[in-house]
Amino acid sequence: MIKVKKRKILLLPGDGIGPEVILEVKKIINWFNDKKSLDFEIDQELVGGCSYDKHGTPITDEVFYKALESEVIMLGAVGGPTWDNLEFSKKPERALLKLRKELKLFANLRPAICFKQLVDASTLKPEVVSGLDIMIVRELTGGIYFGEPRGIKPIENGERKGINTHTYTTSEITRVARVAFDLARKRSNKVTSCEKSNVMEAGQLWKEEVKELHEKEYKDVELSHMLADNCAMQLLRNPKQFDVIVTDNLFGDMLSDQASMLTGSLGLLPSASLGAKNKDGEMRAMYEPIHGSAPDIAGQGIANPIASILSFAMALRYSLDLDKEADVLEKAVQDVLNDGLRTKDIMSEGMKETSTSAMGDAIISKLQ
Ligand code: IPM
Ligand code: MG
Repeated sequence: MIKVKKRKILLLPGDGIGPEVILEVKKIINWFNDKKSLDFEIDQELVGGCSYDKHGTPITDEVFYKALESEVIMLGAVGGPTWDNLEFSKKPERALLKLRKELKLFANLRPAICFKQLVDASTLKPEVVSGLDIMIVRELTGGIYFGEPRGIKPIENGERKGINTHTYTTSEITRVARVAFDLARKRSNKVTSCEKSNVMEAGQLWKEEVKELHEKEYKDVELSHMLADNCAMQLLRNPKQFDVIVTDNLFGDMLSDQASMLTGSLGLLPSASLGAKNKDGEMRAMYEPIHGSAPDIAGQGIANPIASILSFAMALRYSLDLDKEADVLEKAVQDVLNDGLRTKDIMSEGMKETSTSAMGDAIISKLQ
């Protein structure tokens, strides 16, 4: 059994704009170490396409073991067109999926918050999105992403068949539902559980298990069930009806992308992938911006580091028990936005266009 080492932070910048945005996170961690005497131990490794280029694999065993013993992993992003045609097992994304699965990071928290400074950046009307604050809890280690059997096999008359399997067990459903209910209690106390119980048995089980857990342990939380396709529609029609949405791996992948765009600014949204606490109260966790590697703008110094910086704020809150520091960091981000600083992706008239590193520096200066 590999033990989690307290306060050990592993930086996995990855590909594309990953290294640029994680560099800003590193500056912030160093600031906390220097100015607040927090003893974070930082390490940094290759993962994704850059690891494939150097080692022929998207994640080496050495890096994987380092990840296992780190309390916090800060991931940038993986993937890009350079590696699109690799065989499945070598693709950069496999590193991410391996980390999620093997570290048992089953609960993926994806907030979609519409920052008041950026209401106009959304493609939806301001009144529909202003004040929006949704938390999507996506199941991350089960469902069709990992189900067996899977593969592509030849069948009769020269055709081929692609197979993936969607499965969920009671405990896989209840542990993630519990995370959603607990979060709701600290927010507006409402959970919407999404599945396709009208067409999938695994969806029917999902609904039954969530309902039963609710009746047994979370009667005080308002629960509703919604078909996932309806949820996609409701997210556009009236997103503010939602507080916490809990759903499976695949629906969560899609609904969280959709929800993120309500906010108009992919560059601002963080995420957390959490495991279970062990008997010593330790938990593995990985934090990452939801924006991906954006190879088209990599290396230009224009990427928005805010999503990564807010991901570190989530790490302070969920892994490191430093709520006050998380508040301070989130406030610093608000302050620079109030000052009119904008990276290119969120630039609008009358604002000051800022590079990746200048944005990081401005946030640090607000921390002082
Ligand atoms: C995400 C991404 C990943 C996923 C990819 C990169 C494997 O889309 O984190 O949402 O599908 O889960
Ligand atoms: Mg996705």
